[in-house]
Amino acid sequence: MAHIIKILDGFSFIPRKELTLLEALEQQDVVVEYQCREGFCGSCQVNLIDGEVVYTTEPIAFVPEGKVLTCCCQPDSDLTIEIPGGCKVKAKGR
Ligand code: FES
Repeated sequence: MAHIIKILDGFSFIPRKELTLLEALEQQDVVVEYQCREGFCGSCQVNLIDGEVVYTTEPIAFVPEGKVLTCCCQPDSDLTIEIPGGCKVKAKGR
């Protein structure tokens, strides 16, 4: 079943099922910090306000309570997330 991702101060969308949360946000041109994309560095954290995720790769980085690592998880329910620094969308190239 498709889940809805709601970005606080942003918008809602339904991602393709097989994408990680990071990939799903990137597909919407949402700017999210990342480095390793493998659960090591912790830089891709967002605040999980509501909902459940399932980790596709168990994160190595410490994940503080209330945060999720977007590079290695997928939605397991409808989600509400908050992106540190706010929801910024990349300008489309001309
Ligand atoms: S990008 Fe490094 S933990 Fe997600």
